[in-house]
Amino acid sequence: MPKTYFTTPIYYVNDLPHIGHAYTTVVADVLARYHRLFGDEVLLLTGVDEHGQKVQQAAEKKGLDPQKYCDEIQLGWRTIWEELQIQYDIFFRTTDAFHKKAVQAALQFLWDKGDIYCKDYEGLYSVSEEIFYTEKDLVDGKTPQGNDVISIKEKNYFFKMSNYQDKIIEALNAGNFVLPEYRKNEVLGFLKKPLNDLCISRPKARLSWGIELPFDKDFVTYVWFDALLNYATGVGYQQKERSADFEKWWQSRSVVHLIGKDILTTHAVYWPAMLMALGIEIPKSIFAHGWWLAAGGEKMSKSKGNSVRPLDMKNLVGVDPLRYFLVREVTLGNDASFSPDLVVNRVNAELANNLGNLLSRATNLIDKNFSSIVPEYPENLSTETKSLLDALPKTSKEIEEQVRALAPQNALQAIVNLLNDTNKYIGDRAPWKQVKTDLSAAAETLATSLAILKFAGIYLSPVMPEKMNRLLSTIGFTGEKTIQEALNWKKSSSLKITKGDPLFPRVELIEKD
Ligand code: ME8
Ligand code: MG
Repeated sequence: MPKTYFTTPIYYVNDLPHIGHAYTTVVADVLARYHRLFGDEVLLLTGVDEHGQKVQQAAEKKGLDPQKYCDEIQLGWRTIWEELQIQYDIFFRTTDAFHKKAVQAALQFLWDKGDIYCKDYEGLYSVSEEIFYTEKDLVDGKTPQGNDVISIKEKNYFFKMSNYQDKIIEALNAGNFVLPEYRKNEVLGFLKKPLNDLCISRPKARLSWGIELPFDKDFVTYVWFDALLNYATGVGYQQKERSADFEKWWQSRSVVHLIGKDILTTHAVYWPAMLMALGIEIPKSIFAHGWWLAAGGEKMSKSKGNSVRPLDMKNLVGVDPLRYFLVREVTLGNDASFSPDLVVNRVNAELANNLGNLLSRATNLIDKNFSSIVPEYPENLSTETKSLLDALPKTSKEIEEQVRALAPQNALQAIVNLLNDTNKYIGDRAPWKQVKTDLSAAAETLATSLAILKFAGIYLSPVMPEKMNRLLSTIGFTGEKTIQEALNWKKSSSLKITKGDPLFPRVELIEKD
């Protein structure tokens, strides 16, 4: 059985999530649910990155000890993921004892191997990105992402990242290791210059909130070294009792890291270098998506305080329409603007009008004219009907190909096309007239429409699990949500439909003045 281990970044808990974090997490959840529908074995990890200066500062602001602060705020993250219907298998916390032990074991291994050394260091540090820069990296005195730096001079430990430069380039050139293609080229461009070694420690005197180095108690490890390892420790790395899990999910190279483009270098350069040094597999793919931009075109960000909250959007349009919007609106990889009216427009046009109307038109006519039972198909089907039903296996194949190619927006486009064609089919055949003149033709139109609704109900459930459960129960489908059932159009007749409130009520945006 094919298997995939999907990960989201583990997010800093200096605040609660905004739409950007919800995006990565929803997309990962949607991909994972599709893969489950295809019959694959799937693991989904998300979680929180609790160490580092940024989180320590957030805790100080609240007057809390950092552990206590993290214990509280991580509950907020979990609650929001539950509200957004995220079906994660692992919720990762970097303060979990097993992780700290595993990180120390990895550090000790690299120290013993001679891949870590100690030297005096002077550099420019961005607290917001938790990264050191050099003077020549800066643009107008700020990081390339526009954040402030502070100058720091201290003794530190370094990882010999430069030793792995050629091997990383080789891995990049070998295939789909970094996606999209243009991001891979960006990383290759970055690797044209010789790599610096990576500073992997912070003196406790300056930052105490981290994992202690096993070979020097005055230092903690650098937040990224700790955080990146989560993906491996989460499935059992450096834990004897979980070695079978680790073999299964990590060493088989079935890992797909979904990240935002802001953390491409840490994932596409530092991380493979660390893995190569540790002598374990690199992931199958790292996919860097784009940014949701706030009004004004700036990246939506916790540090900038310009963010839209997922639960506010959920309250406006409902959780499933929000999930649909996030996956549908943008090509995975590109930037896009976020605003509530874009969400409302998309939801009204495609869910209320296209899908919602199809459902209510078809079920109303069946209710009125066929005593709520989906009628039988006639012996001979018309060409229009055949061509619509032929579209089912084609669309099914298209959905699977697009999802596997990490293009879920195209999978949704294929479903939208099918629903548009079906609405046109109904408009052309006018079953509200057919019921008066040719009951058998009306039966054909309605049974076919219901077959499409059943297909859409199954194939949209990874995106809109609750709404599609409701759709399927409205049309009386009680079978399993499988591809086989989705394609079995004959089984649409004899379903017993139940009329109810509109599945997707139109949403009105109340303007603030
Ligand atoms: O970087 N648009 O955590 P973080 C789209 N802890 N996605 C966005 C976004 C936006 N405007 N803003 C954030 C960290 N994201 C580290 C990661 S992983 C080992 C450690 C999403 O809280 C996107 O996935 O800053 C981005 O990469 C991530 O949140 C950064 O979250
Ligand atoms: Mg960030």
